[in-house]
Formats: sequence, C-alpha cells, structure tokens
Amino acid sequence: MTNCNGQGEEVKILPDWKKVLVSREEFLKALGFGLSGVIALFATIPGVAFILNYLFVPKDPKWVNVGVIEKFKQGETALVGFHDPYILPWDGVSGHRSAWVRRNSDEDFTAFAVNCTHLGCPVRWKSDAQLFMCPCHGGVYYKDGEVAGGPPPRPLHRYPVRLVKGDVQIQVGMVLEES
Ligand code: FES
Repeated sequence: MTNCNGQGEEVKILPDWKKVLVSREEFLKALGFGLSGVIALFATIPGVAFILNYLFVPKDPKWVNVGVIEKFKQGETALVGFHDPYILPWDGVSGHRSAWVRRNSDEDFTAFAVNCTHLGCPVRWKSDAQLFMCPCHGGVYYKDGEVAGGPPPRPLHRYPVRLVKGDVQIQVGMVLEES
C-alpha cells in the first residue's frame, strides 16, 4: 500500500516484510502496524462481547429480591437496588440496577423501571408532589407511572412483583409489563 507525501513522492505505508529484520525503518513500520492491530483488537472486544451476549445469553425472566416487606411503608415509593442476574464478568458496576417500588396497601406492591420512556434518563421520585420527575427534558409521571406531562410517550415500565416468605421480589429480564 502506498501514499503520496507533500512533494508528490510515493511513500509505502505497509512494511516490506522481507526487510523487517534488516532495516530499522521497516522494523518500526512493522512494530507500529502490529501495535495498531493490538489496540484495534482491544477496542472492539466490548462491542463484540455486547453483541454476543445479546444474541446468545438467554434472558428468561428471573425473580430477584429487593427487600423485606417491612422495609416498605404503605403509600410510599422507595428506590431499591438489585444485582442484574444477566451480567457478564466484564460488565462491572453496570450490573447494578435500580427500580422504584411502591407499597399501595398491605400486600399490593408496584415496581417501576427507573428509566424514563422518552430517552431513558433515570426518573426521580418527589414524595412531596407524589410525582416522578425526569431531569432530562421535564417528563412527569403520576405515582402510578402514568404520564402526567412532558415528552414521555408511554407510562413507566413496570416489573411484575410477588411476595415470597416475607420478601418483595421483582421479575427482571427481557419482558417488562406496560402500565
Ligand atoms: Fe425523560 Fe426525555 S428522557 S423526558
């Protein structure tokens, strides 16, 4: 492969492999070529891993504990954290997830995804106003997740919830209920 320099002379970009061991210039070209390849390889690993994970790792819904029932007060909404059961070793802290859990009555709970249905920013619960607010573009949701105003096209996504032996569990995976 060749390229032209400023004076119109042809400059070889690829090393002459036969002269790599006898010419310093060709050796440095080969070294740069090799290092560029290694850097490119490392740069593509996360993207390839993401695609392979998306295509081949099963995402059957799973139940995860988000706290004991007593932790949640009736009529209040609380942020809970949980560990994504589908994370891969290289996902790091991105495997930590959150959800908003509301205790409507004694045994009636609702869990909402934290992400706004507009562009995915994490919504915040404002207990004094009883509204979820999105900090990005002013989206507002009622306490039941329905859209109150702003650009969100849909209500907040909901996780299925169940109570098992005193624990509140939400179902995570590919399937989220619509409100
Ligand atoms: Fe929430 Fe745009 S991301 S309103």
